[in-house]
Amino acid sequence: MTNADLDTRIRACDRCPLRSGCRSPIPGDGHFGSRILFIGEAPGKNEDIEGVPFVGRSGKLLTSILQDLGLERERDYYITNIVKCRPPDNRDPSPAEIAACSGYLVEQLELMRPDVIVTLGRFSFNFLVPNRGMTQSRGQCFRIHGVADRPLSFAPVVLACYHPAVALYDPKKRGIITEDLSKLPEIIASVQL
Ligand code: URA
Repeated sequence: MTNADLDTRIRACDRCPLRSGCRSPIPGDGHFGSRILFIGEAPGKNEDIEGVPFVGRSGKLLTSILQDLGLERERDYYITNIVKCRPPDNRDPSPAEIAACSGYLVEQLELMRPDVIVTLGRFSFNFLVPNRGMTQSRGQCFRIHGVADRPLSFAPVVLACYHPAVALYDPKKRGIITEDLSKLPEIIASVQL
């Protein structure tokens, strides 16, 4: 199975009712052969229109923070969401929707085998690292060996980060996100190949 095969399966998915309310499931974007994977929550309105994750206001903010750190989407990272279809009115994804969709994320993880996973917000963070709060965990790294009670064939490091949407109206949070993401080059360098 290649990434292209998996993308085709994701685009054809109708496992949950979210599919009927969006234009298309969005598998992800960026360099699948890179060492860094970002995982957000779910596509929003602009993402649904363009068919690409993180292209709206919070996506542009994230992209610009990462560019300031020398990280380019097409070269240095892949980005996806825990839920691939846009929830109506941009509401939070439900536990049932996460359960229906997250198998695709696990397949993406096993195909890509990133060294570092950056979770954006609590949904992706708590899927990979359950029972921990964001406020206490942001900026910290967690080595994981499995996901949702299933072992992984590799052991990536998870960096917990706030979702960039929280920074849109709060410059303090923008500073915190920038500070946390600034750790990436050092984390990448320290993680064994
Ligand atoms: N927020 C997300 O979590 N994902 C997107 O793709 C866009 C905004």
